[in-house]
Amino acid sequence: MQEWLKTAVFYEIYPQSFKDSNGDGIGDFNGIADKLDYIADLGCNAIWMNPCFDSPFKDAGYDVRDYRKVASRYGTIEDLQRLIEQVHARGMHILLDLVSGHTSEEHEWFRMSGQKEPNEYSDRYIWTDSWFQRAEGFPYIAGERERDGAYIINFFKCQPALNYGFLEPKEHWQKPIDHPACLATRAAVVDVMCYWLSMGCDGFRVDMADSLVKNDDEVKSGTCLVWKDMFAKVHEKYPDAVFVSEWNNPASAIGMAGFQMDFFLDWTGNGYNLLMRDYDLSGRDDSYFKVSSPRSICDFLEDYLPKYEAIKDKGLYCLITGNHDMVRAAYNLDERELKLAYSFLLTMPGAPFIYYGDEIGMRYQDLTGKEGGYTRTGSRTPMQWDDSLNHGFSDADPSCLYLPSDCASGAPTVESQRRREDSLYHTVKELLRIRRKERALAAHDNLEILFADRNRRSFAFRRGNMIMLCNPSGSAETLPVDAAGSKQIYAVGTGKSEGAGYVMDAQSFVICRK
Ligand code: NOJ
Repeated sequence: MQEWLKTAVFYEIYPQSFKDSNGDGIGDFNGIADKLDYIADLGCNAIWMNPCFDSPFKDAGYDVRDYRKVASRYGTIEDLQRLIEQVHARGMHILLDLVSGHTSEEHEWFRMSGQKEPNEYSDRYIWTDSWFQRAEGFPYIAGERERDGAYIINFFKCQPALNYGFLEPKEHWQKPIDHPACLATRAAVVDVMCYWLSMGCDGFRVDMADSLVKNDDEVKSGTCLVWKDMFAKVHEKYPDAVFVSEWNNPASAIGMAGFQMDFFLDWTGNGYNLLMRDYDLSGRDDSYFKVSSPRSICDFLEDYLPKYEAIKDKGLYCLITGNHDMVRAAYNLDERELKLAYSFLLTMPGAPFIYYGDEIGMRYQDLTGKEGGYTRTGSRTPMQWDDSLNHGFSDADPSCLYLPSDCASGAPTVESQRRREDSLYHTVKELLRIRRKERALAAHDNLEILFADRNRRSFAFRRGNMIMLCNPSGSAETLPVDAAGSKQIYAVGTGKSEGAGYVMDAQSFVICRK
């Protein structure tokens, strides 16, 4: 694993909404460059930026029309190069977003692929042999192109799936993964990666990384083979390139495919969701960090631990505060609950990812969908910097913003959070300072659960010489954890060592150094 990853803390930027430098109402590369000092000062040393390539934006840029062009709304390629240089000048790193499973239906490859006359791109996408032959088991579209056939899509209608083949082809139109056309798809995507690595980016977050090979088996052995091959080719030229997968199965992604990092994602009912997002419309909220929740940490650990154990010496299973696809954490958690949740996320193994604005508790907005965002749109609103026009995001008339800024009373801003000493922002900053300073927190294979009980709300874990204790409930709990002789270096709420136990007051989180 690349050395810098061991101490990496990522900041995710949705470029549309971070900082608008030219007053057109939408964020851009120069705006991000202006705010790099803010990101560094917060304590993040790496960036993941959502797609910034030429696109009709029917899925916020996850529908790429030209992989080698930047979207003009974010600036020029020179602006992006300058941004990358400025990131590096601060000793930071930046990952771009690679959409490898599909393109936009407006991509030139797809235009060619849909032509009646066979050509170089005919099999770049997955077509059946005639328009009335259904691609059974897959979402498919017919009736759009002159070619007689139906094609498989990967996500929305506008995103035809690239052809990496089928693990076990069953129909004539299904190609094996080593078919020349599928190898050509791989080569084309390798070219795209090398192109941006040659521009200086440090690697990629890979969209739907598990979606490449169709009819793949449970562990996705076909998709893993394809990634291994593509990584080998990329690493020949760029040995330091790093990749984080949107996969949520580190045994496959890290263990077999060769990614360095995988995300723990918000899948219904899984361990990650149980931490912060286990609620429904009836008002029930059983998220672990909700004060009123009955949940024990064991539900999270049952899902997390086996996945972590499987790859802990090979790569990073990464915890996130949220992302552009999730409802913001501040939707259901108040500031105290967020402080506890972040204390946990930022002291666990893996490289943590902070979604822009989560560090100040930006709120979820109830908005009409934009660019295919639907319910995700409310988590993609402009960053709130200060109390000036549009919270300092843009000089544009408010009616011209990409999305409206949160102008309801109490909207948090960086400025207001900086002013208040006990704010969420200062908590995040302090946690990241501690994470930087304490070597044990940077390691990735040293997690040891000290106390977790199905019938209790509190729990404790150790990483080397650091002990973390947490009680998210509304009443004090004593944990059978002997931390005598250790020094408390951080606390939300209060806790103290008492005999062979540790008394944790309501809603508290403590870090001790042995
Ligand atoms: C996952 C991305 O995070 C999401 O925003 C996008 O809509 C889909 N993949 C399709 O690319």
